[in-house]
Amino acid sequence: MHNELIQKAIEVLKYNDVGGWTRPAPGLYPHQWLWDSCFVAIGMSHYNPKRAQQEIMSLFKGQWENGMIPHMIFSGDGEKHLSPNLWDSKVSPLSPRKLETSGITQPPLLTQAVVSIGQKLSSHERRNWYKKTWPHLLAYHQWFYAERSPHAEGLVVLIHPWETGLDNTPPWMQAMRQHQRPLWIKAIEAIRADKLIEKLRKDTRQVPPDERMSTAESLMLVNIVRRLRRKHYDIDKILLRSHFAIEDVMFNSLLIRGNQLLTEIAKDIRKTIPKETLNYMNLAPKSLENLWDQQDEQYYSRTFVTQKPIREPSIASLMPLYSGVITKKRASQLVSALKNTKEYGTNFPVPSVPLSSEHFSQRRYWQGPSWVNTNWLIIDGLERYGFKREAAQLRNRTLNMVDKSGFFEYFSPIDGYGAGISPFSWTAALTIDLAKTADE
Ligand code: GLC
Repeated sequence: MHNELIQKAIEVLKYNDVGGWTRPAPGLYPHQWLWDSCFVAIGMSHYNPKRAQQEIMSLFKGQWENGMIPHMIFSGDGEKHLSPNLWDSKVSPLSPRKLETSGITQPPLLTQAVVSIGQKLSSHERRNWYKKTWPHLLAYHQWFYAERSPHAEGLVVLIHPWETGLDNTPPWMQAMRQHQRPLWIKAIEAIRADKLIEKLRKDTRQVPPDERMSTAESLMLVNIVRRLRRKHYDIDKILLRSHFAIEDVMFNSLLIRGNQLLTEIAKDIRKTIPKETLNYMNLAPKSLENLWDQQDEQYYSRTFVTQKPIREPSIASLMPLYSGVITKKRASQLVSALKNTKEYGTNFPVPSVPLSSEHFSQRRYWQGPSWVNTNWLIIDGLERYGFKREAAQLRNRTLNMVDKSGFFEYFSPIDGYGAGISPFSWTAALTIDLAKTADE
């Protein structure tokens, strides 16, 4: 039984509660992040569904007129020059007038979170909850296909690495370096000014630099924001000239699952999804299968313009398991990779990059460490494919890792050592969910 661990996790969420929404961690993350709040709501739904609902309603306050839910809603805390001014969301007439937000989105787990809460309510309360959230959810899913699926085959494109939630994940870093390496970044690296900039960075003041992304990578990410801002976050303008857009395998897997859940909600409250959106939703599973690479026998993200796979393995390659739409054969192939001790089968799984990758680094952010949220997605997928034993094993290993090291942001897959910031909200929230299921 995990009662003590659950109690500690609830304390973490209380500590990070800033009134109606939850910051990911003290200090480093003072704002509201989209997928963080979805995970938080999933955890809270077990002991306080009302508060979990608030967490989600708070995200809707940031929704843009075109339906996009931004990846960050700024709290007013923290250093203004670093975030709200960088994004300057008001340059788009579609952004909310009363709040400052970022101009991009993050992995689509909102519909999942709404359903996870719904499952804890009475049928009457659940339908009311679904009715209340429906207009927001529908607008959100419609936005993906209206604005982010220009090839009209049901896969959506992402325009910034931060949209993946896996900020410095190797496939995106590779694509970014190939696509643009502004002269000033080259110059900074050449004169080693990155050491100086390192001093100004906020994250490396709180977390050891070898657990974060490199300064050159950070500068490149900020540079893309500046470009998006110059285009006023207008997707037509952005895609017209930029070749930096990617059909991301993890994001699309999550969206496909979100579509299934949206359909369930629609049935429950007798709503219809407009035909145009439905057409895209129906095309998506087959298009996801097109991301399977025969040569390497795994799923890869693909660059939007050339339609070429980015042959760089990462945890994203396993996420079609969560989509639920790949064949059992493919799911078994992914399970083999999960178990392979040269790839993802480490002592404290699941590493964000397989051991065999040249980029693997056990404590560096999304370039090696194990994260509780990606474990949660994999466990959920394993369950639905009937890999019950594997799901239970990963669930227990995840819980032991958190129990041993604390509510860290991420963990070394080799020795389970906690890294990044602590106490981290989604680690706590998903611990609650995993522990409740383990104890059932
Ligand atoms: C980092 C993570 C991202 C998360 C955010 C707040 O940027 O990469 O996934 O949402 O921190 O926790």
